[in-house]
Amino acid sequence: MREISPCEIKENIIKLISKDWALLSAGKKDAWNTMTVSWGMAGELWGKDVVSVFVRPQRYTKKFIDENDYFSLCFFDENYKDALKICGSKSGRDIDKAAATGLVPRFDESAVYFEQAKLVIICKKIASREMSPESFIEESIKDNYPAGDYHTTYIGEIVTVLEK
Ligand SMILES: Cc1cc2nc3c(=O)[nH]c(=O)nc-3n(C[C@H](O)[C@H](O)[C@H](O)COP(=O)(O)O)c2cc1C
Repeated sequence: MREISPCEIKENIIKLISKDWALLSAGKKDAWNTMTVSWGMAGELWGKDVVSVFVRPQRYTKKFIDENDYFSLCFFDENYKDALKICGSKSGRDIDKAAATGLVPRFDESAVYFEQAKLVIICKKIASREMSPESFIEESIKDNYPAGDYHTTYIGEIVTVLEK
C-alpha cells in the first residue's frame, strides 16, 4: 500500500461510507475488534482533516475505541461485501471475525487495519460525545432509538491514509 494525503482520496467518500460500507476497527495485536459501519462522515474540523463515526453503546468494538487512542476505517472492493455483512451482524464477543471472514489484520504502532482493504484511513481520536435526544431538532430522528441506545460520536483526526 502507498501513503497518500486525505485530499488525494479519489473515490466519493459519501458513497464509500454509505453504500459500500467500511470496517471500523481499534485495538492492538493482543486485543482488537472490528465492525461494519455505514454512518459516518469526512471533512475538516478545528483546522484538521477528520472523520466522524457513530457507535451504539452495545457494540463490542466501542470498548476498543474507548480504550485506544486510534481507530481505523477500512474500505474494500465489492467482493468483500459478505465479509462486511458478517462483521455487521455478528459480535466479536461471539466469533473471531478474522477467522470467520478471512480478513487478515495488520497492526501498525497505532491501529489495526486489514490487508485486503483498498483504502485505509487511520485516525487519532480527538473528541467523543454521546448523542442526547434533546439535541435532535427533527422529531423523527428519535425513531432511530426505540431502545434509547444513543450513538457515541467519535471524531478522529486523519493521521495516515493508505491506498492499494
Ligand atoms: C451496513 C451496516 C452498517 C452499520 N453501521 C453501523 C454504524 O454506523 N454504527 C453502529 O453502531 N453500528 C452499525 N452497524 C451494526 C454493527 O456493525 C453490528 O452491530 C456489529 O455486529 C457490531 O459488532 P461488535 O459487537 O463486534 O462490535 C452496521 C451494520 C451494518 C450491516
